Order: sequence, then C-alpha cells, then structure tokens
Amino acid sequence: PKKIIIDTDPGIDDAMAIFLALQSPELEVLGLTTIFGNVYTTLSTKNALHLLEIAGRTDIPVAEGSHVTITNGTKLRVADFVHGNDGLGNQNFPPPNGKPIDQAAAVFLVEQANLYPGEVTVVALGPLTNIALALQLDSGFAKKIGKIIILGGAFFVNGNVNPAAEANIFGDPEAADMVFISGADVIVVGLNVTHQVVLTEADRDKLARSNGKFAKYLCQIMDIYFSYHKDSYEIKGVYLHDPATLIAAVDPTLFTYTEGVVRVQTTGISRGLTILYNKQKRFGEVSEWCDKPTVKVAITVDAPAVVKLVMDR
Ligand code: BDR
Ligand code: CA
Repeated sequence: PKKIIIDTDPGIDDAMAIFLALQSPELEVLGLTTIFGNVYTTLSTKNALHLLEIAGRTDIPVAEGSHVTITNGTKLRVADFVHGNDGLGNQNFPPPNGKPIDQAAAVFLVEQANLYPGEVTVVALGPLTNIALALQLDSGFAKKIGKIIILGGAFFVNGNVNPAAEANIFGDPEAADMVFISGADVIVVGLNVTHQVVLTEADRDKLARSNGKFAKYLCQIMDIYFSYHKDSYEIKGVYLHDPATLIAAVDPTLFTYTEGVVRVQTTGISRGLTILYNKQKRFGEVSEWCDKPTVKVAITVDAPAVVKLVMDR
C-alpha cells in the first residue's frame, strides 16, 4: 500500500476523509499531523486522537502542528459555524485518552520523508503551515516527499470564505504559496472540483440505516454540516472536500488535471486567491510566474464514482 500522512484540522469532512483512509486497503496511514483551520490546533489534535480511538487505531501516531501561521502575522479564523464549536458537530464527546507524540508535525513529516524517500504522500486537508515548516526545516524535503495532495484553492470559481479565497488557503496564504512553488510533486484539488462531489440527504439516510463501521458515527456529527450547506448554498447535501481529496490518493484516475504554476495572492481584498498560470500565453519577462515549478491542478472529477467509494467504505 501507499504510505500516507494526513495533515488535518478535524473537522467533519476531515473525519470522513480519515475514516475513508483507514478503510482503504490501497493506503497505509503512517500518522496524522494536526493544524488549525476548522478549530484551533489544540482541539484539532484532540479530535484526531478521538477519531483514531473511535476507529480502534490508536497504533497510528498523531503529531501536533503549528499553533500560528508561517509568518505568525495572521489572525486565525476558525469555522465553528460550519463544523460546530468542537469541530465535530457539537456532540460533546469525552476527551481522548491518548496523547500526541513528542515530535512536532513538521519534524515528523521531515523524519518520515527521510525514512522513506520518495515514498510518502502527504494528504493536506487544512492550511499548509506544517508543510511549509517542513520545507524550511529540511531544504531537501520537496524532493524527498513523494507527493503532496492538497485540498485547497478555488480555480476559476469563487472561494468559500469570501469571493476570492478558499478556507485552507485563506488560513495561511504565505505557507500555501511556498508549498505551491516548492518544486515538490503537488496535486491540488480545489472547490471547482469538490463542489461537484455532493453527499445527498438520501445518501445520509442510507448511511444512517447501514451497519457500516463508521456510518452511524458520521451521521451523528453531520447535522450542522448539512444545515450550513442549506443556509449558505441552498443545497440539500454536503460538499465532500476532504474525502474527495483523499480519493485522489486512492485512485488519481478519477480526476483529470492541468499543469501550471500556482501562486497565492497574499495582500488586499483578494488575500488567499489562488491563481493558475498554465503557460498558454508567454510572459517572458515575468519570472515570478514563469520560472517557478509547476503543479497539477484537478479540473474534472468522476463525482458519482467518488461518492460511491465514500459510501461503500
Ligand atoms: C476546507 O476547509 C475546511 O473547512 C474543510 O475541512 C476543508 O478542508 C474547505 O474549504
Ligand atoms: Ca479540512
């Protein structure tokens, strides 16, 4: 199986993605690293430990990530109105018994990349601070990490924090820009793709009736996520951002991609905007765009196949 590390801010859709990974024989989860985003980092770590306890997988280490952005200059924004104050649908679960390992997330990422050069895929489901820190810690990280699959950005469509920015990129735009131009083998899945991947109310009802290992738990935490989508998007369903991105690790052929340079706007009202330049026109003199390494940006998705995998697993 493919070795993966999930960098996460759980988060209802993060919970789905984590369980999906644990149910996927194609993947071996080396660890979870945590980051602020949907909730602050301390709570992300508690939630990651809690989810592994629910899954009976306390053998998987959790490494706590950064509590601040890469420049330590950005006020954090949490999404309690999407995921609940606790990040998991306001269910007041008891605190986990386990503890994170004695290693910061970025150190864990660097260590695993050195242990298995070229073999580790990071699936990044929150702001990209830990990955950017790993790049700063080890100048060889971009080449030693096998792949980085990112849920982030909105290409040619509006964001979800504001018209410009998607939440994970908005959470730490400077870190995101560093990762996109790091030269690592990066796949980016943005809202332009994940807004096509919807779990419907009918799917949820089917889950509620099923005896699947995680079905009842996920139905228990998902109500607030459904109401948020109803209020904000007027849809009777929820976007599967993080699970869809995890599927790009399981079966990349369910997506098509375009290749180009991605940069992140870091100032002004469009702070957090992701801009893709796929070199259809030459801008010879503009090296900040033209001489940077490219990434793969997901453009289409086989949404029914992705939803089916999520439901089955
Ligand atoms: C992304 O932001 C978080 O709220 C979700 O978990 C997902 O990773 C969607 O913009
Ligand atoms: Ca997330």
